[in-house]
This record gives sequence, C-alpha cells and structure tokens, in this order.
Amino acid sequence: MRTQVAIIGAGPSGLLLGQLLAKHGIANVIVERQSPDYVLGRIRAGVIETGMQNMLDEAGVGTRMRAEGLVHDGTLISVSDRLHHISFKDLTGKSVLVYGQTEITRDLMEARAAKGLQTIYDAEVTEIANFDGHTPVIRFKKDGVAQELQADFVAACDGYHGIGRRSVPQGAIQEHERVYPFGWLGVLADVPPVNDELIYVTNPKGFALCSMRSKTRSRYYVQCSLSDDVEAWSDARFWDELKSRLDPVSREQLVTGPSIEKSIAPLRSFVAEPMRFGRLFLAGDAAHIVPPTGAKGLNLAASDIYYLSRGLMEHYGEKSDAALDAYSKRALARIWKAERFSWWMTQMLHTFPESSSFERNMQRAELEYTLSSKAASTALAENYVGLPY
Ligand code: APR
Ligand code: PHB
Repeated sequence: MRTQVAIIGAGPSGLLLGQLLAKHGIANVIVERQSPDYVLGRIRAGVIETGMQNMLDEAGVGTRMRAEGLVHDGTLISVSDRLHHISFKDLTGKSVLVYGQTEITRDLMEARAAKGLQTIYDAEVTEIANFDGHTPVIRFKKDGVAQELQADFVAACDGYHGIGRRSVPQGAIQEHERVYPFGWLGVLADVPPVNDELIYVTNPKGFALCSMRSKTRSRYYVQCSLSDDVEAWSDARFWDELKSRLDPVSREQLVTGPSIEKSIAPLRSFVAEPMRFGRLFLAGDAAHIVPPTGAKGLNLAASDIYYLSRGLMEHYGEKSDAALDAYSKRALARIWKAERFSWWMTQMLHTFPESSSFERNMQRAELEYTLSSKAASTALAENYVGLPY
C-alpha cells in the first residue's frame, strides 16, 4: 500500500488531520489499533476554544457542534463556600463551547466515512521505518496478516502511549515531565448540571470540578489519592464527597443519580521536543500531556494539527517546505504556554499533601490576587479561551 500521508491513530488529532488533508486533495490513510466503538468509548473533556471551533468548521464537522454545543461566556471558581465569576466575555470578548470530545470524534469519524477515506481499525502499528529518508513506511498487522504502508510523510497522532515517540532515537528527543501527587476521580451521570457554568472548586479537602456534556448529562470530578481504588467509591460516597467540597447553594442544588461511567485518572504535565524527525511528525498527545485543569488537551491537539496541516498543504501545493520546517518550533511555542497555564491552574486549585505552610500561603495569595485583580483575571480568561495560533 502507498499514500501521501500515513496517519497513526484515529483520535481527534488523526481524524482532524485526515479531514483537512483530504479537503486539499492530499491522500491519507489512518491506521488505528482499536475498534471505532472503543475509540468512541473514551470519556474526555470538551471545552472548545474558538481556534478549534474554526478548525472543525474548516474540516466540515462544525454543524452539530454549533447546534448542540453550549456557549459558555465564563466560569465559576468556588473558594471558602463563595462562588467567584470569571467573565471570559467581559474580559476578552470571547467564549468557549462545551461539546464532548466523544461527539467531536463521532462527527469526524462519520465525515471521514462519508468521504470514503480509508481508516484501518483493529490494526496496531508495530514499526515506523525510513523516516530519515524520503519513503517512510509503517508496518502493522491486520487480521493476523503483516502489512506495510509506504508514504511521503508519517503523522504520529498516536497519543501518549503510541509508537511514534518510541520510534525516535533516544538521543534525538528530550522529554520534560511533572507527575502530580494526586488523581481525579470522575463520574458521568444523566443528571442536569448543578450550574449553567463550570465550577472549579478549591477546598482544603481537595479540588472538585462541576462540568457537563449537555443540559441533561453532567460530569463531576473530585481530587483523590493516587492510591485510591475506583471500586472503593460507591456512587453514594462520591456524591457525599463532592457535596462536602461544594458551596452551600451548589450543595443544595446538586442533582445526583446513578453513574454511567466512573474512573480515576492521574495528572501529569509532559512535553517531548522536538516534534519532527525527518519525515515523521508527532502531534497531539503523542507530543504533550497537560493536567485537565485548564481543559487544554484537545485544544492543543487542534493547534498542532493547524500547523502540521498547513505545512503539508504548502509542501504539496506551493512546493515549499518552510512551514513544515517551522512546525516543531511553532507548535512548541503555543504548547509551552498552555502547559504553563494548565500547571498554574493545577498548582493554584489543588490540595498538595506535602506542601509547606509557606507554599499553602503562596497558593492562597495567588488565588486571592487572581480573583481580586482585573489584570490577573484577564490573564486567566485569555488563556482559558485560548491564546492565538
Ligand atoms: N497503532 C495504531 N494506533 C495507535 C497506536 C499504534 N501503535 N498507538 C496508539 N494508537 C491510537 C490509540 O488507540 C488512539 O485511538 O492512537 C489514538 C490516539 O488518540 P488520543 O490518545 O485521543 O490522542 P489525540 O488524538 O492526540 O487526542 C488528544 O485526547 O487524550 C485526550 O486529552 C487528550 O483531549 C486530548 C485528545
Ligand atoms: C470535563 O468536562 O470533563 C472537563 C471540563 C473542564 C476541565 C476538565 C474536564 O478543565
């Protein structure tokens, strides 16, 4: 088999890249190790920045997002039983759209299938070779038969545990990581959200987050220990713990119900650089991870794909490699700013078991300054709605 761009991974990064390339007549094949249902079964945040909304429009999958997505002009931060409103609209003139990542993935999958574009599911890529030459090749097994796909370029959109990063010579890549000393226990439930906006809760007992997927489906999180076992958290225990961290009004308004999904996720900040190795490019979670506190994971994948798709379009269109050559530097400039914001939000809002009294006072001062200063609130808002591409 041969194509122009071989894409590893049918998550948001791979699917979005495939749509944009196809729109510009660039042939591409996606190889995905899981089934479509497995990929759609992933429960992940969907707070969509304007830049990503525009990318999804460009990819031809913005209609349902704009019809069903919830426009959020601000967010709430709960401190010492009080709710503080941060108005993105007043401070930046922008808003975000709340629309689950699962729905984005579904829309992209359906659009790809409608175009008759090739996606090979249940096929794990086991090798990426010759990417330092002009004809890279990826090797995978499908139904027990070893196959290979030759291409001009390989886009490793294969996530944190993918093969892309692992295929690069050890000395050619630098990794930066911070693992946080806690996790998030998340629950999805078909109950109405406790508030029209998201509520980021800071509490001595631990962080909590009240989010949503629609007007009838809510997503809640409580900070938990990394040694916690999700089996030890009954629905009743989860709801009681969440209530204990909420302000009195939200506690009273909270509608509880049976969980339809419950899981614990670790939190890490991670960046691999550079993001290009000859004709192999890393994009999305393959190159970086952010703690979910700033809701940047999906949005960073979109900006990577913006830079990479433009580079490939210029290569095939104007016959210029300037944008491809600039990909890694341009993507990393935005990635590091989002890493900073996600780390800052996490440091400010979570309870750190081993923190000193000085560190706790720094945390309190950071929060008080952020909520009392228009300049500081504007800084939070402009990062949350998304920095320019
Ligand atoms: N061969 C084929 N497919 C692979 C391989 C492999 N060796 N390794 C990983 N994959 C697939 C995974 O099964 C997954 O479907 O690559 C895909 C990577 O998708 P994601 O992990 O969702 O990463 P990405 O597309 O970059 O999306 C980033 O997802 O994790 C969230 O918070 C993150 O919202 C962000 C978004
Ligand atoms: C979510 O809805 O899952 C969500 C929203 C905002 C975040 C993190 C997760 O910052």
